[in-house]
Amino acid sequence: MVTLPPVLLAEKYFKMHPDELDPIWGNPCDDPRHRKIWANNKTCESLPQFLVIGPQKTGTTALYTFLTMHPTISSNKPSPETFEEVQFFNGKNYYRGLDWYMRFFMSENGTVEQRNVTINNQESLKKPILFEKSATYFDNELVPRRAHALLPRAKILVPAHACPQRPGRRELHVLRGADRVVNFTQESQRSAESVSEPRSVRAAPGALGVVLLPQQLLIIDGDELRNDPVSIMYRLQQFLQIDPLFDYSSRLRYDKNKGFYCQVISQNKNKCLGRNKGRQYPAMDSKSAKYLNVYYTTHNSALVKMLKRLDQQIPMWLREDLGQSS
Ligand code: A3P
Repeated sequence: MVTLPPVLLAEKYFKMHPDELDPIWGNPCDDPRHRKIWANNKTCESLPQFLVIGPQKTGTTALYTFLTMHPTISSNKPSPETFEEVQFFNGKNYYRGLDWYMRFFMSENGTVEQRNVTINNQESLKKPILFEKSATYFDNELVPRRAHALLPRAKILVPAHACPQRPGRRELHVLRGADRVVNFTQESQRSAESVSEPRSVRAAPGALGVVLLPQQLLIIDGDELRNDPVSIMYRLQQFLQIDPLFDYSSRLRYDKNKGFYCQVISQNKNKCLGRNKGRQYPAMDSKSAKYLNVYYTTHNSALVKMLKRLDQQIPMWLREDLGQSS
């Protein structure tokens, strides 16, 4: 057998396999060989169980805030570089490696500690359910493959709302929603094909090649999140299989001044999101609204198909958008 010194061997290897030059972090707990050589103090418990992937401007900050009010749900520690978002899977942070990412979910002593939680007047010791919200994940081609390699069983939450709610350039990335969701899920779909998962859902041939585990993806109606967050948080807890359910009805209250739901602080005091979240916009003119509806018909139809396959509710705005464009 012929071999070379390590560096030369690596150079030769990557010449032969240039597609492997970009690392992909797999889940060490899924590979007995990796698990064996992992330091004793490392555990996959310090990886998130679900991700909120955006897109931006769909209510991700409100969703994040409501989730962190839950006694058993914890997000990552804030990143000093990107405000609260870690933004691991989409950019250069990915090259900082797994330890860098996991530190965002650990306490100072390097573990994920159980904590005393009280829900419905019942106290119990629980491990937190960890999640991460990076609204930039939605728009990045690299994220599906990377996220799926590390967190193949993570649940994914995606708020989506009506296209022409407001004017402006920012709408465009919201409008691209349907096809981006499909892209994001393709990686999980491929893997779902390879494991014989009885509850996987298969698209009609040629339809987008979508195969999803229905229990992994939840599309959240952004309009409902805005107008009735208590119901959304109830359904979301069911989707995440959280037990017992935390009652948000006494914790969230509509704030007339803000025009949105906010956290209840005391009898007369609410804590709302900052001034740059929840602004008032003039209505979009009907010509632009019509144009956008028509432009996104194909994507909206794809989203409806996917929601049906996932056995999830079709939001009213989506029914209306499709109704208008036909
Ligand atoms: P604007 O930012 O245009 O005011 P994101 O956090 O993903 O960027 O989304 C921001 C949008 O969330 C807000 O739009 C607003 O429409 C929506 N939103 C939903 N629920 C909200 C809440 N309770 N408070 C403030 N904004 C909320």
